[in-house]
Amino acid sequence: MSKSDNLLALVQARAGKEPVKLGLILGSGLGDIADRVEGEAFDYTDLPGFPVSAVSGHSAKLVIGNLWGQRVAVFGGRAHYYERGASDAMRLPLELLKALGADQVILTNAAGSFRSDIPPGDLMLISDHINFSGLNPLIGEATDARFVNMTNAYDPEIRAALAKAAAADSIELKSGVYSWYSGPSFETPAEINALKILGTDAVGMSTVPEVILSRFLGLRTAAISAITNMAAGLGNEHISHQHTKDMAPIGAAKLARILQGYITSI
Ligand code: HPA
Repeated sequence: MSKSDNLLALVQARAGKEPVKLGLILGSGLGDIADRVEGEAFDYTDLPGFPVSAVSGHSAKLVIGNLWGQRVAVFGGRAHYYERGASDAMRLPLELLKALGADQVILTNAAGSFRSDIPPGDLMLISDHINFSGLNPLIGEATDARFVNMTNAYDPEIRAALAKAAAADSIELKSGVYSWYSGPSFETPAEINALKILGTDAVGMSTVPEVILSRFLGLRTAAISAITNMAAGLGNEHISHQHTKDMAPIGAAKLARILQGYITSI
């Protein structure tokens, strides 16, 4: 039995065997949605092999149950590359999600914006990404399945449905390109300038490895950034993790409404 088979048995023993429709991975300061799920909660520390994320602003638990009429698995808290230098830290959680029967995963994150028309407090629907870190969670994967096609990695149909849910609730949701910077230090203004020239609309320290892994596993994928600040050198705020945690809940409220609209529509 593989690690995810063992985990599946452990989780289903408590949460039941009914298949899960989708997964949600929640970013910094965006964990509240996990509390809305009616179901079973598992601390990551009780799930053998799960990454134990020690990043403040992330509640490290998995909740499986009913959210707005769908059976979901919500991962409150993710492990980041910058914690231990493992870009595949989220592989086991995503393998478990797949084993639970999900066909899609929606990722959320906090990010710095490059665009004055997507200011702090707004959300950005990710249309594509730039892997500025050069790292890849599939390095070492031995099979040909590692050569994952990343065209339309951010599923056009799910994106359209999320945009529709936002519009139906009069929430502005612009789209843009997200660049992954390893962190944990924030970017320099020179790096932000370089990323801007490359075509970045928002920058953050997560999501890209999970999207690569999700596509590898055959999960349909979409992602939304909650903009917490203008990227380094583009605004006047003092960029800090505390600022990220303070600002993310503003976007989180709108994010929850969009996700509610989307989840009730599928
Ligand atoms: N850079 C990287 N990660 C972030 C930022 C940022 O400006 N804001 C929130 N997460």
